[in-house]
Amino acid sequence: MPPKLDLDWKEYGPFSFAVSYGQKAYNTWVSDTVQLAAAVLGTAVVFSLLASMVLSCAAYIRPAKLQVYCHSETGSWALVTGASDGIGRAFVDELLERGFNVLLHGRNQEKLERIMKELAQQHPKRSIDFVVADASRPDHPEDIVAAKVKQLPGKLTILVNNVGGITSKPQYVTIDKVAAEHIDAQLNINARFPTQLIRALLPTLQESQPSIILNCGSAGALVGIPYIATYTATKAYVHTLTMALKAEMLAEGLAPDKKFTKGVEVQCYIIGNTLSAQNTTDIPYLTQDARACARGCLAKVGSGKTLEYPSWRVAVSSGFMKILPEGLLMKAMVGQMRERKAESEKEE
Ligand SMILES: NC(=O)c1ccc[n+]([C@@H]2O[C@H](COP(=O)([O-])OP(=O)(O)OC[C@H]3O[C@@H](n4cnc5c(N)ncnc54)[C@H](OP(=O)(O)O)[C@@H]3O)[C@@H](O)[C@H]2O)c1
Repeated sequence: MPPKLDLDWKEYGPFSFAVSYGQKAYNTWVSDTVQLAAAVLGTAVVFSLLASMVLSCAAYIRPAKLQVYCHSETGSWALVTGASDGIGRAFVDELLERGFNVLLHGRNQEKLERIMKELAQQHPKRSIDFVVADASRPDHPEDIVAAKVKQLPGKLTILVNNVGGITSKPQYVTIDKVAAEHIDAQLNINARFPTQLIRALLPTLQESQPSIILNCGSAGALVGIPYIATYTATKAYVHTLTMALKAEMLAEGLAPDKKFTKGVEVQCYIIGNTLSAQNTTDIPYLTQDARACARGCLAKVGSGKTLEYPSWRVAVSSGFMKILPEGLLMKAMVGQMRERKAESEKEE
């Protein structure tokens, strides 16, 4: 232990008050009790940080639990929303390769028919079907999807709520320049449709348990990004919805057991910059392709964490964003987003 101070504070004239209090504070700090308490607290903090790091790293090496959802003798089905392009299309490919039958959802019948034909040739042993419903509409498009699910010749065990995006053109604009109908469309596609679809399909997923709901969130939601404010806010909604649903499953005795033999699991992916139909911006070291993103997401199934990252790069960059002082973060983000706004205006 460092020695205690024994200064005669009266000798310090105008500073005597400060010296007296400084000395008292220092002597309290070096006392045995306080040092022991600080050592215990410090050790606990270091252990909890280490434990959380080990748990996060373990998610990258432990085998995924995806196959527990491929359990139906009549065929296990996965529904992927927004399945005709980008990350949704990649989810479809990955799930077919892992033995699931897939129901594709989208808004463009011709495109879905063409994709279905291609997929049927590539995966002759799988069953593939599609359903058309415009997620941006307010008149309950989820009912069309739920009706199609009821007709499937097997059990729905996976729901991937992937559909999402920004509808305004140019893509990056201040909120007052976004047409009112585009704000409604984005709220509908990103928040209303996945919520209503979960409501409509939860009884089916309970019947076919073990089953899982996988929601697509966004790293942008962790900070809130200028010029796409509505979009990033709806993605924060998706994160919170997932956390609340997970707790609701627990409260209702519907959470999965340890071996995932029953229950309805709920997970959300915090997706980072990914090349897709919607996003062609390539940020060095941080950008994934859609296939790697979908693979990374499915590898985290059963990790035990409700909010997961598809790759360690997104996890590290998101962690960095969380610890950066707000002023610095805003400055860096504003600079980058102004550039993107200028580019998107040029493209229009
Ligand atoms: N890409 C990224 O950097 C990134 C980052 C964070 C989060 N995410 C999230 O990841 C998910 C997929 O994004 P993505 O980049 O792969 O998007 P994408 O390439 O634009 O693909 C979107 C898919 O959704 C379909 N879709 C769009 N609007 C629809 C509507 N109103 N009704 C029905 N289907 C509709 C599209 O159909 P069409 O083929 O007809 O266009 C397409 O299949 C989204 O939830 C997004 O928010 C992406």
